Parts: sequence; C-alpha cells; structure tokens
Amino acid sequence: MTAGRNLAINGDRLWQSLMEMARIGATEKGGVCRLTLTELDKQGRDLFARWCREAGCTISVDKMGNMFARRPGRDHSLPPVGTGSHLDTQPTGGKFDGVYGVLAGLEVLRTLQDHDVETEAPIEVSVWTNEEGARFTPAMVGSGVYAGEFDLEESWAQRDGDGVSLGEALDIIGYKGEQTPGSHHFGAFFETHIEQGPILESECKTIGIVTAVQGMRWYDVTLTGDEVHAGPTPMDRRRDPVVALAELLPRIYRLALDRAPNGRATIANLHTEPESRNTVPGLCRLSVDLRHPDQGELEAMDSGLKAAAAEVAEAHGVGHSVTDVWNSPPVAFDVGCVDAVRKGAGIMNYSAMEVVSGAGHDAVYISRTAPTGMIFIPCEDGISHNETENATAEDCAAGANVLTSRSCRFSPVARGREGV
Ligand code: HGY
Ligand code: MN
Ligand code: MN
Repeated sequence: MTAGRNLAINGDRLWQSLMEMARIGATEKGGVCRLTLTELDKQGRDLFARWCREAGCTISVDKMGNMFARRPGRDHSLPPVGTGSHLDTQPTGGKFDGVYGVLAGLEVLRTLQDHDVETEAPIEVSVWTNEEGARFTPAMVGSGVYAGEFDLEESWAQRDGDGVSLGEALDIIGYKGEQTPGSHHFGAFFETHIEQGPILESECKTIGIVTAVQGMRWYDVTLTGDEVHAGPTPMDRRRDPVVALAELLPRIYRLALDRAPNGRATIANLHTEPESRNTVPGLCRLSVDLRHPDQGELEAMDSGLKAAAAEVAEAHGVGHSVTDVWNSPPVAFDVGCVDAVRKGAGIMNYSAMEVVSGAGHDAVYISRTAPTGMIFIPCEDGISHNETENATAEDCAAGANVLTSRSCRFSPVARGREGV
C-alpha cells in the first residue's frame, strides 16, 4: 500500500523503547553513562539491531561502526531517505540525547510496518559512532569519516584516556564493519533530537524547525613552568602555570561574554602535573570549547584565545601551547528539508518555530553529502549533558510524527514521487 496519508506513530511503544534503552548504562541519578564503543554501547547497538530486524530491516555496518538499518522500498535503485542519530552518551548523560533520534527513526519503521506501507525509496535509520567525543576526540567522528571530513585510519588511531584506540575498541565490541564509510549516500536525511537548550520550552513550542547549527572549535591548552617545593620556594621565584591560568580563565570567558547572547566558551578537563599538593605544578592542561553562529565571530574568538594565551604566558614567564583539536564551521540546512519539517509540523498541527542548534549533531556532516534537516523537541528546563535530562512522551511522539509525516517523506532524488 502506498502511503499518501499521514500516519500517527505509536507513542507508548516509542516511550517504552526509550526507557528500555535507558536501562543500558543507567546511573543512580536517573541518567545514562553509555560511552562509545564500550560493552554497554555494544549492548545498546545489539538491542537496536534486534528491534530493527523485528521491524523487517536488514543491518549493515561500516568500518567506523556506523550502523544502517534498511527497510526496502519499491525502487531499490533510489538512494534511501535517512534518519537517525547516536547511541553513545556523555559520562553524566541522559536518556534522550541522541537515543531519541535513533528510536524515533525505529518508530517510523515500526509504524510503516504496522500499516503495511510500501515506500518509493528505501528508508535507513542510522547510528553514528562517537558523536559525543567524550571518550575519543573529536566529536561526531563516525559521521565525519562517513562525510569525508576525517581520515579513517587517523580516526581509528585516536586513543582514549586509557590508551585504547578507537579501532581497537571497534574490534573489541565486534562493530568494525566491512562497508567503506560514505560508500552509499542518502536522498535526504532528517535527524530528530531534543533541543538541549531552553528556547522551545520558554516559547511554548512543540517543534523546532532547525535552520542551522552554530560553529564550534575545540582546543587543548597547556601552560608549562617549573616543579618546585611548595614550602621553601618564595612566591617570586616560581614559574607557576596555575598563576598564569588564573589570569587566562577570565580572558577566555570574556571572548563569549563580549559576544552575548550568542557566544559560548566552556573550559573543562583541567589537569595539573604532578598532582601533588606540596609540589608546585610544572604543567597545567585544559580543554576549551568555543562556539558562535557566525563564522567571522568564531574566527575572532579563535585569534582572541591564542593571543590571550601568548600574552599571559609571556607575562608570567611560562611556556604555552594552544592545539586546535576540532573545527566545525556553522552549517545551514537544506531549505527544502527545512521547509519539509515546517510543513510536517503544520500538517500535524504542532506549534513550531525556527531555531539554530547550539549543539553539534551528526546531521552537520551528513549535510555535506545529502539534503539534510533536523527536527527538535523541547527538553525540561533546557537541560542536557546532565543525568536529569528529561522530555515528555507527548513531545517525543510529536517529533516522531513530524518525521513520519508526508512532507518529510520525499526524497529529493525521487522528487515528485513520494520517498515514502
Ligand atoms: O558537542 C556537542 O555539541 C555535541 O553534543 N557533540
Ligand atoms: Mn546528541
Ligand atoms: Mn550530546
């Protein structure tokens, strides 16, 4: 049966799947810790694969561990209409970041099967490896290799804090597939995700029509001085990198505060060596995450960081380095896909507004290979990357209904003929 009409998804089934997946890596505070390519990630992947097979799909895996659950269409020569997101979480992550996009895609597959819908183009629901970048840097590396932004071998060689490489981790959990990343493209791709910020909730909107994703840049900064005894060494005879850091921190935050309300600066992974309270550290290391929707402003923040680090190091007689770890420029999504999301929200009578994503998503890299859009739903108090991350069953169903709606079904390659 071809599907000209809109189909309502099964919201209870979607919610049950979200709660069952959340049990894999569940934390005492109600969150989820399911780091990429760990045994827990394997369990989540295996569960997803089982559910997709039960929904009539075949599973393929590429050399980066990216998974593709494929539901055949009438014309298998057409590129698939794709959706999906990631199953890996932050160390203190929640139940919805990434997972919601994967399971909303699964719910589309299940709904199509329920109604015995034969689609024009195949449908594929994807799971992208290491979107979070919490265990291996950079973030979004699975979709980045798929889109040609990162080299496969170099990505395999990335090591975690215990010295395990990404390639070894893929082998250990048995998810290093045969498929060459990027060897098959989508006709169109829609990622569904919680907003992870406060806008939709404060504006009382159910659907975010995502027009763009802001730019983001990651750095490793080191400051180096001399290890000396904390007792006998007078303050004016020290080269203490932490004294330099104390002056650098406010300058880094100013890069964002001077560009309010859009600028973002986040400092984490603070580390000194040696870690001994009675030895003045010889080395201080920190991670810096800078973001802005405007490329020019982001470049100004980049040069501002590098200038501040050099000036502070000079003033305190310490060494310094600023290493570029990741650079993801701002991305505008395909206007046809943005319009499809807008129409889908309209058809389903959901309140909606346009938003720019503050968080990075796999859709950023997929948009380099196919017309791409994103559908946002609110999350409680705009909180994410936190164990209290929450969303309502109603909003989860709404986002999946827009994903299933007619307007998100066409594949531009099959334009004029419904993708689904
Ligand atoms: O960093 C991000 O915005 C995403 O969570 N990887
Ligand atoms: Mn995410
Ligand atoms: Mn995230």
